[in-house]
Amino acid sequence: MSLRVVSRRQAILWAASGVVVVALLVVVALVVSRPSPPHGAPAPAGLGATPPMGWNSWNHFGCDVDADLVESTADAMAANGMQKLGYRAVNIDDCWMSPQRDPHTGELVPDPKKFPQGMAAVADYLHARGFTLGIYEDAGTRTCAGFPGSLGHERLDARTFARWGVDTLKYDNCHRGGSTTTVQYIARYRAMSDALRATGRPIFLAVCEWGVNRPWTWARGIGQSWRTTHDIKDSYASMLAIFQQNVRLAAFAGPGGWNDPDMLEIGNGGMTPTEQRTEFTLWAAMAAPLIAGADLRSLSSDALAVYSNAEVIAIDQDRLGRQAVPIAAHGQVAGSDGRWVLSKPLADGGRAVVLFNATDSPESISTSAAALGLHGSSFAVRDVWSGKSFVTASSISSRLAAHGAVMFRVAPSSP
Ligand code: GLA
Repeated sequence: MSLRVVSRRQAILWAASGVVVVALLVVVALVVSRPSPPHGAPAPAGLGATPPMGWNSWNHFGCDVDADLVESTADAMAANGMQKLGYRAVNIDDCWMSPQRDPHTGELVPDPKKFPQGMAAVADYLHARGFTLGIYEDAGTRTCAGFPGSLGHERLDARTFARWGVDTLKYDNCHRGGSTTTVQYIARYRAMSDALRATGRPIFLAVCEWGVNRPWTWARGIGQSWRTTHDIKDSYASMLAIFQQNVRLAAFAGPGGWNDPDMLEIGNGGMTPTEQRTEFTLWAAMAAPLIAGADLRSLSSDALAVYSNAEVIAIDQDRLGRQAVPIAAHGQVAGSDGRWVLSKPLADGGRAVVLFNATDSPESISTSAAALGLHGSSFAVRDVWSGKSFVTASSISSRLAAHGAVMFRVAPSSP
């Protein structure tokens, strides 16, 4: 009788401690929900070492893509200086395909009206001029615009892309055949990742599932970037909402895998010059892919100047590969009153610092070297938009227009 009582108590204790252990494991798993380790063959060395830079057709042209657009865009990037600044990816989005696969080989077929010489000819054109070719497919049965998807055809499609000379694959998430769970998403994206690796050609895989199943927790090692949000629109409100989601994910970005807050709308006409400069500043601070989504053949000189700020680009491309973190200021939780301070550690030991006024009226924003984790008696600071340099003992502050941002490069120690 007493024995039975003791064992019942023990059983209850064991059960209780089991619950505690499971709870602890869950907490640990949540806290350590950093990227999952790579599977299959390792990604080719250097792929995605810094965030990609280039152009994508979707935001400005939608389905209106053809070889002439792609090639003339590359020519424009060579002529307007963007290529020299690092914009080398020329990426074709949805609608490049024929509606059916080849009935004999099962291969994807470029639309013969849009790409009369085929895709390898476009790749040759770009490669001969120092660009890379990006293409688009979908991890479901159809692309978002309704063209054949790669689900179940991953090996064949990866081989086709490699044969054409494709360098980047944006892999979308429409018509996913009932797949909803993280496990199912991982399986579909890993299938293409493994297929690309099996080709032996280094192909950058841009995971595009819109942040639905928290790809920042599993896509490192599968792809080299992952979209963190739904599609950006050409407006300040959309850009701000996407920034607010992506800025929280700094822990997951780094060489070989980047948070992707979607394309840059600079030059598309929906944002003021101030807002366009803000988008570029925020994306660079977040070590985001710098993928222009405008018509680069008819870009205004103002928009081109934003895309062409070499010092801002250098911060985006800094080899340490850290995404800026929001830091508390003015006694508020970071960003909660619309006055943002961002700090991006740089390879030289310094910081890139952004002060961003997300509110609709002018505001003063300030921070200090100590808040940025810098120690010393004075700091050399350079405003990378105005080109002005100054020395400060501690405080960094600015009066900012509504929706405006400044970006400073703070040297590591006393000048
Ligand atoms: C999805 C993607 C976009 C674009 C379109 C193409 O919406 O998120 O970036 O690729 O599909 O149909």
